[in-house]
Amino acid sequence: MELKNIILEKEGKIAIVTISRPKALNALNSETLTELDYVLDQIEDDNEVLAVILTGAGEKSFVAGADISEMKDKNVIEGRKFGILGNKVFRRLELLEKPVIAAVNGFALGGGCEISMACDIRIASTKALFGQPEVGLGITPGFGGTQRLTRLVGMGMAKQLIFTAKNIKADEALRIGLVNKVVEPEELMDTAKKLANTIANNAPIAVKLSKQAINRGIQCDIDTALSFESEAFGECFSTEDQKDAMTAFVEKRKPEGFKNR
Ligand code: CAA
Repeated sequence: MELKNIILEKEGKIAIVTISRPKALNALNSETLTELDYVLDQIEDDNEVLAVILTGAGEKSFVAGADISEMKDKNVIEGRKFGILGNKVFRRLELLEKPVIAAVNGFALGGGCEISMACDIRIASTKALFGQPEVGLGITPGFGGTQRLTRLVGMGMAKQLIFTAKNIKADEALRIGLVNKVVEPEELMDTAKKLANTIANNAPIAVKLSKQAINRGIQCDIDTALSFESEAFGECFSTEDQKDAMTAFVEKRKPEGFKNR
């Protein structure tokens, strides 16, 4: 597939996905969502990639939401279909078997805030702006905002942000737990890369299974959730990486480096 709106780059163990539609502040149209789905295929199949960074092109915007020009004339069926497409792609991103860091460089509004929430970790620049402006456009959040925002910041704050359609700055996003860290714009990519490399240098299967256990466990009661954890924990003992790392510890030497096996 020819990519028109997304740039996929690799730096060692890291894949960097940049959403790039400068004329619309990187807003997500159907074409971009379909390209993102395709890019996730590439990342999934690439065994060299152990962590992913998602960001927006340019200095102003991460993603300014779903594309309003495309949505404007949709009918009920088309609207629902667009919502299902966004939710499908974002859920795939959320469930990707590799950790994903959102490097939020500017506007993260509507679908932009929503795509950042489908990532595992959010690092924001001081210039980032978050919000769910949908009710001001006569719609509800449609790419997961009503669900992921609630899970991340709690029901009261999610309702306030969604009902008021008011944007918040990076420091407020940090205060309410929407983002993990705020840095100066010029430090954003380096911070995200450093974090991605730290994660990528740990045992990949253990990171993958931790992500799975967290994602599955958050959906259910604690006993079921803990059984997911036990399953993941047990599975690690079938890996070379567990044997090597623990043997190295006991023998008081440095481990050889994880092999993703
Ligand atoms: N969809 C389509 N085009 C968009 C866009 C969007 N979400 N956001 C910005 N653009 C376009 C503008 O139309 C403009 O295009 P033209 O140059 O052709 O006029 C261009 O990007 C630059 O935008 P502005 O001139 O508006 O830039 P600004 O700096 O004055 O304002 C902004 C920036 C505050 C982000 C403003 O563009 C804005 O409010 N954008 C819409 C944000 C929004 O409401 N997002 C939510 C969409 S709904 C959604 O996402 C639903 C869902 O849950 C799935």
